[in-house]
Amino acid sequence: MANKIKLQILEDAQAVARAAVAVLAEQVHQRPDAVLGLATGSSPEATYAELVRLYREEGLSFARVRSVNLDEYEGLDGDHEQSYRHYMQKHLLGAIDIRPWNTFLLDGMAVDMAAECRAYEERIRALGGVDLFLLGIGTNGHIAFNEPGSAVDSRTRLIELSEATIEANSRLFTRADEVPRRALTVGVGTIMTSRRLLLLATGESKAGAIAAAVEGNVGAQCPASFLQQHADCTFLLDKAAAAHLSR
Ligand code: F6R
Repeated sequence: MANKIKLQILEDAQAVARAAVAVLAEQVHQRPDAVLGLATGSSPEATYAELVRLYREEGLSFARVRSVNLDEYEGLDGDHEQSYRHYMQKHLLGAIDIRPWNTFLLDGMAVDMAAECRAYEERIRALGGVDLFLLGIGTNGHIAFNEPGSAVDSRTRLIELSEATIEANSRLFTRADEVPRRALTVGVGTIMTSRRLLLLATGESKAGAIAAAVEGNVGAQCPASFLQQHADCTFLLDKAAAAHLSR
């Protein structure tokens, strides 16, 4: 099957953020009640900062937008500083006019995780699906927390994080034993149902994963490689993240 990923290689992380904001703002203009899929982590931080600026200074309204997030750590409630709910409130959702009841994240404290995952899939369906999903990529090729080994048709579930991911996440926790070892994540199959995908990657640490995702064989060894089969997927890369691409 032909590789359909569209690539934009930009000068630096700021240029990546500007390009991402242009796509997101256009999506919201086009459909004010769009369903946006959102990622956490360092990759989208500058993008969210610029969206907040557009809201404050240029009147971009999110009043009718609905949002769903990719993932959440098991065992952290929304008030925990490292929870993704907390991250989203701080970097975007708490700083724009989106209505709190239109923002959806997985609940890392759910008593019945299987039921929580089923309800999340049902929620996405009830919203009419995701118009545009913003993604980052792990150094091991994960998208959301779909670690290597995740199937193309995987759905929202509780997953064991890989050692590489636990190691990467540990930079944000004060003690190693605090770093969650499991997380709730939407599946590769859930992501693939989004109408559009936008993946952001910056810095040389992502270059290997980007090369594997864009030019490697499609397969569970690099979950991001499944994006080659999506009809409308764009990667926004800075030069460092694109450094291992041959084409
Ligand atoms: C976060 C997520 C992860 C990150 C990835 C990259 O919601 O789903 O897949 O996008 O781990 O993280 P950063 O951007 O911190 O390098």
